[in-house]
Amino acid sequence: MVSSEMTDDGSGPVRSPGTGASGGMPHGTRLDPFLEAYAERARSMTSSEIRALFAVASRPEVVSLAGGMPFVSALPLDAVADTFRRLIAERGAQALQYGSGQGMEVLREQIVAALMPLVGVHAHPDDVVVTVGSQQGLDIVTRILCDPGDIIVAEAPSYVGALSVFAAYQAEVVHVPMDGDGLDPDALAETFRQLAAAGRRPKFLYTVPSFHNPAGVTQGPDRRRAVLDTCQAFGVPIVEDDPYGLLGFDGEVPRALRADDAESVLYLGSFSKTFSPGLRVGWVVAPHGVREKLVLATEASVLCPPQLSQLAVSAYLAEQPWWDQVKVFRELYRERRDALISAVQSHFPAETTWTTPSGGFYSWVTLPEGLDSSSMLPRAVTARVAYVPGSAFYAGNAKRLGKRSLRLSYCFPDPDRIREGVRRLAGVIESELELVHTFGSPVAHTDPALSARDNARIAGQSQAPGPATE
Ligand SMILES: Cc1ncc(COP(=O)(O)O)c(C=O)c1O
Repeated sequence: MVSSEMTDDGSGPVRSPGTGASGGMPHGTRLDPFLEAYAERARSMTSSEIRALFAVASRPEVVSLAGGMPFVSALPLDAVADTFRRLIAERGAQALQYGSGQGMEVLREQIVAALMPLVGVHAHPDDVVVTVGSQQGLDIVTRILCDPGDIIVAEAPSYVGALSVFAAYQAEVVHVPMDGDGLDPDALAETFRQLAAAGRRPKFLYTVPSFHNPAGVTQGPDRRRAVLDTCQAFGVPIVEDDPYGLLGFDGEVPRALRADDAESVLYLGSFSKTFSPGLRVGWVVAPHGVREKLVLATEASVLCPPQLSQLAVSAYLAEQPWWDQVKVFRELYRERRDALISAVQSHFPAETTWTTPSGGFYSWVTLPEGLDSSSMLPRAVTARVAYVPGSAFYAGNAKRLGKRSLRLSYCFPDPDRIREGVRRLAGVIESELELVHTFGSPVAHTDPALSARDNARIAGQSQAPGPATE
């Protein structure tokens, strides 16, 4: 059965065929002929008004602080072009052919030799499954571990792409709060206790310990130990998603959770943020049994990761000064982070708080009491600046926890554009505040403490003015 709330384009409710006049076709609405055919799991796959707004937001006059697109123009593009030309000319028969479901051995060897030791993990190439970006890693991990109705525990807020995967497999997400040091282990233990008391055991904890998307916070070493201990005590495996780990601004690479627990942590890596998201190459490091299932799941979904992309990544690692390029990216993103934070400090109203990330792409902003980041977005886009409203980063009913928050990305626009975007956004926030002061806020009346409490934890309690997690 398909809900009558499903829409063909996400723009509004449509009714099922066969109800009402003219075969139930509401006047002026284009019906999807497959409306009755969708699987239950497709019910959560609805596009939102936000998506429609982003079509407008992609116009050049809009400063987008919304997307998490790496600044790939900083890559040595000529060298990459040469690599592709050579791969096709010299190894075309291999590069353009199907390959292994587990991924090419040469690349898996490079991943365990060059990448994993940087985060403290010593693994065997057999432990690695190459994926079509870490997004496919999330997909196959969830596919092999979760039945409909299973519980996944995840940070509040969480990466929106992971939430989409969990929803597609009809898993139920239970959010656990963070503070300025990432996931709160006491709250995690309390969540596990409550679930156990209700006879429920989560399938896994999903966490982004380093340079979190969207919160911009990082678990320190003690925090990581506490998270591991808590999960071990309750027998809950961990899915560690680490696409940003090498992009710390102080040059230090945080030690992966997987480094201290090879049995129950599945590690997801990606070349998207350190090389190219367009090549779609990531990987999973997993214990033997899990790895076998992941390969079968890959074969069932994509047969194999693309050979050409894998060869290109492999050649890049072998022939280019890729570590120097990581340093170039770090420096570039640090400069953009600085531009964002200093602009926010200068322009945002006093009651606004934000995180100051020590790496990665994102800062999490909490608006003054009474503001709603979703309803503010159309006005922001009109003022030619875009962001992602906080509610996108929560699952199901928890979406209201993100009402007062939003994510700002500083990875793509240059520092001047970032400053201009923040200035425009500050103007929008100021005028929203004026409206709230004049007319009052429906948000403040209907949903007072909840969003304030949750968001204040991440941003480290309201202190005006300024960032809480510097
Ligand atoms: C936390 C997190 N996980 C996974 C992904 C997906 O990355 P990939 O391009 O490797 O599929 C992203 C992309 O933004 C991300 O932020």
